Amino acid sequence: MGKKLYIETYGCQMNEADSELALGILQDKGYTRTYEIAESDVILVNTCAVREHAEERILGRLGYFSTIKSRKPDIVVGVLGCMGQHLQDQLLTPSNGADGVDLVIGPDGYRRLPELIDRARGSDPFLDVRLDRHELYSDVDPLRTEGVRAWVSVMRGCDKFCTFCIVPFVRGRERCLPAATVLEQVTRCADEGFQEIVFLGQTVNSYRDGDTDFGDLLRRANDVPGVERIRFTSPHPAKMTDSVIDAMADCGKVMPQLHLPLQSASDAMLERMQRSYTIDEYDEIVGKLRQRIPDIALGTDIIVGFHGETEEDFLATHEYMKRTRFDSAFMFKYSMREGTRSCKWGDTVSEEEKGSRLRTVIELQEGISAEINRSWVGREVEVLVEGESKNGDGQLSGKSRQFKTVVFPGNGCMPGDIRSLRVRGATAHTLIGEWFDTSRAPTATSE
Ligand code: SAH
Ligand code: SF4
Ligand code: F3S
Repeated sequence: MGKKLYIETYGCQMNEADSELALGILQDKGYTRTYEIAESDVILVNTCAVREHAEERILGRLGYFSTIKSRKPDIVVGVLGCMGQHLQDQLLTPSNGADGVDLVIGPDGYRRLPELIDRARGSDPFLDVRLDRHELYSDVDPLRTEGVRAWVSVMRGCDKFCTFCIVPFVRGRERCLPAATVLEQVTRCADEGFQEIVFLGQTVNSYRDGDTDFGDLLRRANDVPGVERIRFTSPHPAKMTDSVIDAMADCGKVMPQLHLPLQSASDAMLERMQRSYTIDEYDEIVGKLRQRIPDIALGTDIIVGFHGETEEDFLATHEYMKRTRFDSAFMFKYSMREGTRSCKWGDTVSEEEKGSRLRTVIELQEGISAEINRSWVGREVEVLVEGESKNGDGQLSGKSRQFKTVVFPGNGCMPGDIRSLRVRGATAHTLIGEWFDTSRAPTATSE
């Protein structure tokens, strides 16, 4: 009997993709995946270190796993990923609430997972957190579980060193997969029946392999038969070149949607964050994108309360969000991360003030998102069906080309179908779809 593996994933899509790599590596050695903790022989937690809150949540979860381990001592509990790389042996110190962790493996150690898990069965807890500037896992087959969407990591690591960010320290130096390997993976995903490909990288658009830049990669992926939709995340504004924008505009399969992290609209803050663009430069890119790609949906990330952020700096961000009207935004309170440059500068905005700034931008954005979504009412959307909607009311849900969630009556269509629907209602986070003509459903397509 093969061993049963339970895995939980926190953090960004790159971690989702890494969990699929870990699953692929372990499946090759006879492990099978289970979704039941109670029947597992190995529990792996793929972790995030980007904000303190993320780490606290995971520590809480590890506390829970340690109670399971105390009842079932043979179980192996492993911490993978960014928080493992960040906290290292602190995770093996019982006082940290992480009693019961057997091994800690950084993002470049997954190839060794099978042997490390075997070793953990008969040894004291240990670490394997060597970073490897060449590790790309290009020969590993991930076990993709996402349904209609396949993650394809085209690069690993990050060289930007934004002063607030832990990622370059826990993920190591930037390196790119060869374009031929990326395209092989895209072809394989299409052959396996995935409709949508999402290229991943911390600064995905700084991708380069010889003469092939990210724009070229998009064009080549666009030519792969069987692929219906292509997205990518997260691009860095400073690398949003004409080559990338032109490729987005020219390639029919590259969806009109972009998550383009801004962080702040104050030049003083952008400079201190070392984001390497000014607000005018960012705004110019937004202008180009909106001009070249009709109906593009733009999302962003915002940090409030960074070191030295004055009321005026904050208001600049608020004003910019109001004027630019992003479709969506992830908004965060600045969180000091040990080891980053800005950590040495300290926290200058009180927790209370950060909370108040955060509430202000969230409220603004909720209103804007709702207004933008309402402007879709009456329009046609092309939906890639994902499965049952979360409400559990028998409705289906999927994503529009703009990556908006659309909920609609299923009428017998299946995950992976691409269907044309009319929007009859909207909230800040969801469009409500209906069939144009119920007598035609579900065979009506947009083609
Ligand atoms: N590579 C991406 C972002 C990766 S982290 C990029 O450069 O755009 C995802 C988001 O977390 C960031 O965009 C930022 O908004 C937020 N973030 C990162 N470090 C943070 C910190 N120390 N405190 C608060 N938010 C942070
Ligand atoms: Fe972090 Fe900046 Fe790299 Fe994004 S680009 S992962 S924010 S260092
Ligand atoms: Fe978190 Fe690591 Fe992603 S720190 S955001 S899981 S790269």
